[in-house]
Amino acid sequence: MPKQKKTIEKGKTDTYRHPTAESLLRPEVGTQAQFRKKKPPVKYRYDDSLDPAMSWDEGSAVREKGERLIREILEADSLEAARAAAESLKAMSAPFLNWSGKAERAEFEVPTLPLFIHERLSTTAIIETLKGHKKGMEQLTLFGDPHHSIADQVLKAYEYADKWVNRMILGDSLMVMNSLLHYEGMGGQVQTINMDPPYGVKFGSNFQPFVRKRDVKHGDDDHMTYEPEMVQAYRDTWELGLHSYLTYMRDRLYLAHELLAPSGSIFVQISDENLHHVRELMDEVFGPNNFAGIISFQKTGGIEATLLPPTVDYLLWYGRDKSSIKYRQLFLERSLGDTSLDRYDMVLFDDGTSRRLKKPEIEADAIPEGAKRYQLVSLYSDGASSETKSFTFHGKKYRPRADTHWKTTIDGLERLAEKDRIEIMGSVLRYRRFVKDFPVVPLTDRWHSTQSGTQRIYAVQTSPIVLQRCILMTTDPGDLVFDPTCGSGTTAYVAEQWGRRWITADVSRVPLALARQRLLTATFNYYELRDEAMGPAGGFVYKRKQNKKGEEVGGIVPHITLKSIANNEPPAEEVLVDRPETVNSITRVSGPFVFEATIPTPMDWDEEKSETKGIQEGQGAYEDRMLEVLRKVKTLHLPGNRKIELKNVRLPAKTLTLSAEAVANGGHADDMAGKAVAFVFGPENGSVSERLVYEAAKEAHGKGDYGHLFVVGFGIEPNARTLVEKCAEVMGIPATYVEAARDLMMGDLLKNLRSSQVFSVCGLPEIEILRSDEGKYQVRLAGLDVFDPITMTHESSTGDHVPAWFLDTDYNGTVFHVCQAFFPRTGAWDNLQKALKADYEVNVWEHLAGTVSAPFEAGDYGRVAVKVIDDRGNELVVINDLREAVK
Ligand SMILES: C[S@@+](CC[C@H](N)C(=O)[O-])C[C@H]1O[C@@H](n2cnc3c(N)ncnc32)[C@H](O)[C@@H]1O
Repeated sequence: MPKQKKTIEKGKTDTYRHPTAESLLRPEVGTQAQFRKKKPPVKYRYDDSLDPAMSWDEGSAVREKGERLIREILEADSLEAARAAAESLKAMSAPFLNWSGKAERAEFEVPTLPLFIHERLSTTAIIETLKGHKKGMEQLTLFGDPHHSIADQVLKAYEYADKWVNRMILGDSLMVMNSLLHYEGMGGQVQTINMDPPYGVKFGSNFQPFVRKRDVKHGDDDHMTYEPEMVQAYRDTWELGLHSYLTYMRDRLYLAHELLAPSGSIFVQISDENLHHVRELMDEVFGPNNFAGIISFQKTGGIEATLLPPTVDYLLWYGRDKSSIKYRQLFLERSLGDTSLDRYDMVLFDDGTSRRLKKPEIEADAIPEGAKRYQLVSLYSDGASSETKSFTFHGKKYRPRADTHWKTTIDGLERLAEKDRIEIMGSVLRYRRFVKDFPVVPLTDRWHSTQSGTQRIYAVQTSPIVLQRCILMTTDPGDLVFDPTCGSGTTAYVAEQWGRRWITADVSRVPLALARQRLLTATFNYYELRDEAMGPAGGFVYKRKQNKKGEEVGGIVPHITLKSIANNEPPAEEVLVDRPETVNSITRVSGPFVFEATIPTPMDWDEEKSETKGIQEGQGAYEDRMLEVLRKVKTLHLPGNRKIELKNVRLPAKTLTLSAEAVANGGHADDMAGKAVAFVFGPENGSVSERLVYEAAKEAHGKGDYGHLFVVGFGIEPNARTLVEKCAEVMGIPATYVEAARDLMMGDLLKNLRSSQVFSVCGLPEIEILRSDEGKYQVRLAGLDVFDPITMTHESSTGDHVPAWFLDTDYNGTVFHVCQAFFPRTGAWDNLQKALKADYEVNVWEHLAGTVSAPFEAGDYGRVAVKVIDDRGNELVVINDLREAVK
């Protein structure tokens, strides 16, 4: 991990610094003025010739295309040209899959938004903060562990020469892929895409709404999420059930196709219910010629079923261009019960005698001591030869049958005989093929023992072995892997493990919270690099190695064949790409990665207001719409099942900043009964800025009519959030931030939305800054603090109940640099603890599962930020000025 060195004042420690923005295309959130301007949306157009339902309509593009092709055939000046046009015409009449809405969707538009970096994460940075807990050398000799001694145990992450940083992105896959393609120009750069979409069944249970609750009940409303992006995706996506699903999948496959490198591959994971439909879609998008295989992989040992118990799911594999696809054959060790081993049913003893193995011996893999296991295979190939030579073996002449010939020359047969490779079976000769000649078998399209087991952290987690095979089969170290359906981050985890670059995206915060924790706390083998300077992109080191029993255990294995012996050639060698050399003295952790989102930077207040106040027609419509939503919803829900009823919702007279006013009434909101409250709406395409809160609070307070200000937005800048919290004190009017669900902007959907899904009030981290004698600081997470505008009091839950909290010890006001990460009351850091147990004091692991940070020095900005991830994956950030805090 490169450290960006800054001048260190005398007496200050050299603390870890995150690398700064490496790409102008991905600004740190809030920093780049030019990104306020959106690029125009991109329009994608399907080839509607694949849809005969539209094909010969008057004026249709298909008809035009058909007529043009017929003309081309008739007027062609060469046979090739006529043939090419005829092929295209033929393709137009191929069978097709049709569904409701397909014909109308000849094209679709996707907004082109930049991706913003919101958070920088690095395990190395976090471990750096534990330096103070390292054991001394004397202690270590006492703890002496031959495998993990501090003398040689090193912590490292892979680095790329071009400073590439892996990426986790919050956003709808379509938007994210469009941003990658048209903001960043990444078309044709992804080597492999793994996509594990919802399977298009049981549309009510595709999402896991809680970080720590894996059982998701189908159609249970309480399990529905309140999370804006997710509600939108959910409702957007599945309105027409399977029909919507096919539209959803085709759009995404279309963009995935654009991202793939010419030698790239895509794997789509699917169950038997929709396997056939998704294959049709993939044929349509990638072309049937680029179909590379269907893999069935075992997902369970067998579940109860009325008919045949289902045990497998499928991977549909397509290449961008099958003729140039990158493919690395994988091999499995021959194992007991594997039919390929069962067929090795002979044993050869040292004295030259041999016998057939008995069935119980084969079943129990009970091979007599010292004996070599082998099978007898034919020495003849099909087809008559012009001159059939006889071969003399043990004094007797042998000839192939008339319609066959020897697999090698007579000289070759002599050499096979010399090496004891020929055996008489009845009246014919056979070749002896030993298990050890090639101790592995090629992996086929049937994958056994790939169940994910009980170690899952996410309801629909894929087993890492499945993704490992897809990645190893179709990429080399350093290649880029993309997963638009991140879930708990299995693709990213496996890509990280195998030194591949990765980008992953998910529309929901819950899985991303899990994925982030998984990556941050993971440990991996350190595979030896061929070229340290190039990083994994230079490839891994593979060696030929044998254990004491003479078994091949290295990444290079010999492949002795009849041909190599007969021709007196050295045996061929195969590389087992999943067996690179491992450096035991190094514990590897994830390289640095960033957390990004399509959520844009907060707009400047003036711009916001000029837009939202109707100067631009569309924006005025936005404010009207919000007002209508507020009127319809009528209720604001607070934690603890309480609510505020709103009456007389209207536009305030003569206002500069405020968006709405209402009378708060009814329910249990006695303290607010009959009081007027004011609302300000954040921008349609951005987060609420500090300036907006300031101006709204100034006006609301100045008017003197309002008892409370509600700031409603789709996201809020941390500084703005802090101002909301301090509003009563600083601006003279109490305020509450209300997060709005994105889909409240969508037509009729509002009818079906419960008010609790439209607006939600969430808390803020409550922190305490501690000062040590040496002048260092520590942060204690006291809990989550939720302001209740009914009772005007704050309610807290304790810090050790949150799933995760992060600390940025020198917050720059834009991007959150995760300097310390805590997962209270979990074993999240167990892997690292196991790997480094000898190096650190025991209490360090309690510390990482606790609520008090490691001591740190104030940085250049003099302020800290604390981010808490709550049970629903919401991120709640509080910022504190260090000097003020301890005054
Ligand atoms: C079956 S899970 C993937 C699980 C993953 N393979 C793992 O091992 O954890 C599908 C994921 O796709 C996400 N998803 C669904 N629709 C999406 C969309 N339109 N854009 C991005 N992600 C989406 C869901 O939130 C869910 O986490």
